This record gives sequence, structure tokens and C-alpha cells, in this order.
Amino acid sequence: MKTLRQSGFNAADIVSDGNKFLTGNGWLGYRGTLDEYGAKECVALNIAGVYDGVKGKWRETVNAFNPFFAVVYSGKTPLDARGENVCSHEISLEISNGTFSRKTVFSVDGAKVTLCAERFVNAARKNGLCSRITLTSDKDLTLVIKVGVDTDIWDLNGPHFKEVHTSQCGNVIEASGVTQELGYSIRTVCGYSLPPENFCNGFGTVEANLKKGKPFVLDRVAEVLCGGENYSGISYDAARAEHLKEWKRLWKLSRIEISDDERAQFALDYSIYHLLILAPKGEYSIAARGLSGQTYKGAVFWDTEIFMLPFFLHSLPECAKNLVRYRINTLPEARKKAKYYGYGGAFYAWESQDGFDACSDFNVQDVFTHRPVRTYFKDKQIHISADVAYAVLSYYEHTGDDGLMLGGGLETVLECAEFARTYSYYNHIKGRYELLDVIGPDEYHERVNNNAFTNYMFREITVRGIKLAEKLQKKYPTETEEVLKKLPDGIISKLKEWANKLYLPQPDGMGIIEQFDGYFKAEDVNVEEVRSRLKHPNEYWGGSGGVATATRVIKQADVIMLFNLFPELFSKEIQKANYDFYLPYTEHGSSLSHCAYALTACRIGNAEGAYKAFLDSAEIDLRGGGKQWAGEIYIGGTHPAASGGAWMTAVYGFGYKRKEN
Ligand code: BGC
Repeated sequence: MKTLRQSGFNAADIVSDGNKFLTGNGWLGYRGTLDEYGAKECVALNIAGVYDGVKGKWRETVNAFNPFFAVVYSGKTPLDARGENVCSHEISLEISNGTFSRKTVFSVDGAKVTLCAERFVNAARKNGLCSRITLTSDKDLTLVIKVGVDTDIWDLNGPHFKEVHTSQCGNVIEASGVTQELGYSIRTVCGYSLPPENFCNGFGTVEANLKKGKPFVLDRVAEVLCGGENYSGISYDAARAEHLKEWKRLWKLSRIEISDDERAQFALDYSIYHLLILAPKGEYSIAARGLSGQTYKGAVFWDTEIFMLPFFLHSLPECAKNLVRYRINTLPEARKKAKYYGYGGAFYAWESQDGFDACSDFNVQDVFTHRPVRTYFKDKQIHISADVAYAVLSYYEHTGDDGLMLGGGLETVLECAEFARTYSYYNHIKGRYELLDVIGPDEYHERVNNNAFTNYMFREITVRGIKLAEKLQKKYPTETEEVLKKLPDGIISKLKEWANKLYLPQPDGMGIIEQFDGYFKAEDVNVEEVRSRLKHPNEYWGGSGGVATATRVIKQADVIMLFNLFPELFSKEIQKANYDFYLPYTEHGSSLSHCAYALTACRIGNAEGAYKAFLDSAEIDLRGGGKQWAGEIYIGGTHPAASGGAWMTAVYGFGYKRKEN
């Protein structure tokens, strides 16, 4: 498998390299940064599903203290990749086994010193990560390495720790803190193969007496520990061995080989790598920006259910189960949210932090006025509940896991349907139920009526949910009765009647399904025209005053995404007509968009369009792509939904085509 390599140093790439060279193990993510970097360079050791909020700021995932700070000194001169004494510099990521390496050659007092460092987040051990520094010189030389656990960490809405303490005991340095909001005690503990001296504030020094040509090695074995967890003290070599073994297993289960196309092969390997480093190690889920930082508050969106889950279902079903369980476990919060807005059933969090909706009423900040912009994602993007139900049903289709369905799965699906039923409005004149005042996947058009994606999604999950209930009723009458008893009386018959009368927008004379009522009346301009109207590069295109709001320009695949979830409901001709119609209006302002077009392109036989969109999805983090700003809000990081989308395109898209032939 090819290694990702990058030679030379460019300060402008520090942040995107942090994403591109990310390592992780599903619980911890370590950005692809250098040991000599600090908070300013966005070093982050991000923890999945551990949240903290600081008063007046958004709640987000916590970054742990950084165990791998190190600067090598020759006298007072640091050996730093940004310095003038650099002869060569290279960083690499071994995607076959999740190892990040750097090799920098410095010119030091007439000697050539090579600094190598490798780092991995232990795939076999939830809280472990290791690093090995190797120094070699072509002359005898004494250097000093400043090492330590850095407590000055990068935060978007921090600082998250109070009561910060550092200490040293023998070869081990530790930094501990307590989170501001929920009082979690989190420690970063790091053991060194040589004891650091001159300890002060988390840092110490190790002297490196280099003998010409002989490598000097310093190992660091770190762990991020919560509450009373203990440091394991495992050796570097033992940790490395278990890590490599686990990566072998992961790739064995998930690798897809593509013949005669190195670029596509690497792009797909890289996408799968990004999914593997996010595979949850427990009943928690995956954030929209994975473990690359605190962007989007470390919250879980529909990205996981619709774009990432398929990969896990086919490759690592035990992780898929964790993802589904996460939603089942957060059903009580979803019920609370529905109730809060005056509805029945379950309305899932648009930005879920353990079920709590972290989505703010003002999720964007205007670049001109610096004022918060009222957005309605939390209140109106109701398709999230359909997405959750769709995921539970897909999980069942793939696994036949009756136990999970009786243990919360069925309840979740029916409650999601019930939410939409109670949200809907009965149009007496037209004799149909309608879903009014919603936001579809295209977030630039808020508060629209009868978004086709939303209506079809709810109809389908309802019909399939009822079938599931009936199947379980036959197989396990008593247990199913117990489940139904927890739900509103007569729920099945009410849902049946509702689903039969729910309005489903039909293709017009040209075969086009209108994205929402009145979409066709919006200004007919393409993406480039709308882009040319921007007065600021980071301007938000949607909301009440966005450049796209009154036009046909959409942020991301909407009707097209629907085809990917229910291809059998729409003929090839209809899919083609809509693909041709919507593509020129699609900005791809969300990383979720390219793969949606790629998948549909595969089904309609547009190989060229499919291939381009596949690469746009698979290479997004290799290219440092994706929007970095929504108004004044930073939205950079990795794009695991695009990685999942690339996987889907390969398997459901190109794979599907092959099957047809
Ligand atoms: C997209 C959403 C997506 C979110 C997180 C937004 O820009 O419009 O569909 O869930 O990003 O990736």
C-alpha cells in the first residue's frame, strides 16, 4: 500500500497537513503536526465523545494535554522544521498501519543531524499512543531534547480544563486537569525510555550524546486516562506489535482492490484509512470532522448514518452496531426534543452530543456585521430522524439482528415515524399529509414546504418500520407486544394511514422532481453567477440574506441524494433527468455532495461524471479541500462523510455497474 509523503516545508500548509496526516484509533485523534509545534499550530489530541462547555461559548469535544511535545536543541538553537538550518524535511503517513513520521536533516555546527520521529495512536488500546524519536549525526555531538506534556492546548471554545497539575515520577511525566462543565478528570501520562531531568511545569530535558553514525533513541509511551484509570506501563515495542497486528486485521476486513488505476486505488485506500481511524471502540459515534479537532463542536450529524455507516456495515459490523446503539441510547433525548417543540415521537439532535442538540439557534456569524445569524438547522432539519431510522433499518437488513431490534431498534424507527406524523399537516383540500416548514439536505433554502427528500424518507422508513414490526410480531409476539406497549396506542394503524396519504412530490413533464414547493420559481442562475455576487470569500450563502437563498443554487445534493437511498423507486430516466438538471445548480458547498452525484452518475451510466465526483470525494483531505469557513465560524478539519461516500461510490456505484454487466 502506498505511503503518503510530502517533502519540503510550507508554513501555509500547517493546518491542512494536520488534517491530511491525522492518526487515530476511534477514541483518540492526533493531528499530523510536528513535535516542536504548540497550540498556535493547532496541535490537538482530540477525544471522541468527551464534551465540555465553557460559559458563554459552544460546548465541544475536549482536546487532551499533548504528551509528544519535543524540541531538540543544539546549545540555544532549536532544531525546528521552520528554522534556517534545515537541509531537508519530509513527513509521511503509513496508511497501511496508521504511523506518522517525520525526517528532518539539520546542519548543526558543521555536522549533519537527522531527526526522525514516528508516532502512532495505538489501534489495539483505546487510550494509548506512542512516539519514537531517533537522532543521528555524522559527527560526535551533544544535544538536549526538551520534552514534556504540553498543557497549553489548541481549543476553539476553551479553555476546558481547570485545576491543571503537572508532576514527574521517575521516567513518567503526567498532566492532569478537570473539565470546567462536567468535572471529568482527565490525565495525560507519558513514560520516557530515559528519565527527563530538570522538571518544571510539565517539561524536562533529556541529554543526547550523539556518537558519529550511531542512532540515539528516545521512546515515549503515553496514555490519556479518565477518572481512576491506571497507566499500563506497556513498552514501546509491545505497543507497536499489538498496534500493527490490529491494523493488519482492519485492512484484511476492509481493503478494496482496484485494478489498473493507482490514483483511484490510493484515493480509496486513503478514504478507508480515514474511516478506520474513526471506528468507535464503544457505544459512541463519529463526529462530522472525525477526530481532527473540535470543529462542528465534535458533534454527530446525519453524516454518520447516511455516509459512513455503510462502510462499517460491510467491513466492521461490530462498529456499525456501536453506531446504531448510540442512536438507540439517545432515544430519550430525541423524545425530549420532540416534546419541547410540541410533537410526539423522536426528533433527533441535528448536532448530537450524546443526544443533546449542540446546534445553536445562531449557527453562523455574518462576515460583514459580525452578528450571529439565525439559522433553523436545529428546529427544522427534521430529516435527521428519518436518517436515524434509515440507519437502524439498514443495520437490520444487513445483520438480521432481531435482538437489537427488540432492544430499542424497532422503538427508534417507529418513534421517528411518529414524530413526522405529528409534525405533518393534513391538507383538507388536497386530501394529503404534508411536511411544512422544514430544511432538506440543501441548507441554503430554509423553512421550505414538502422537501422531496424529507417526505420520501419519512414515507419509506414508516412503511419499512411497519413491516419490521409485523415481522417481529410473528416471530416474537410477546416481546414485540412489550415494545409496542411503550409507544402511543394504535401507532401501527395510525402510521399506516398516514404513510398512505403522505404527499410525495412527483416528477414533472420533464421528469424533474421539484426539490420543494416553489423551488422552480426561484431565480434561475447557476453556481458561477451566484459566486460572482459574493462580496466576501467567506460569506454564508444561505440563511435569510445569503446570495443563494432566492435562487435555484443549492448547497449540496438533495433530490439526488434521495435516489441513492432508494434507487429502486425511481427509473433510470428520472434519475438522469434530475442529475442533469440539478448538477449546474449545485455548489458542493458541503463535502457530502460529490459522492451523491458520483453514485447517481454510476447508475445512469455516466462514467466520466462518476469518476470525477468519486475523486472529488475521495481526495478531499489529500487536496486540503472543503470549505474552511461558514461566515466567521471555522469549519475546517477532515471530512469522513466524503471518505464514506467514496467507499459507497466504489461499492454501490462502480460495483453495482459491474454487477449489471
Ligand atoms: C452540511 C450538512 C452536514 C454538516 C456536517 C453541513 O455543511 O450542510 O449536511 O451534516 O455540514 O458535515
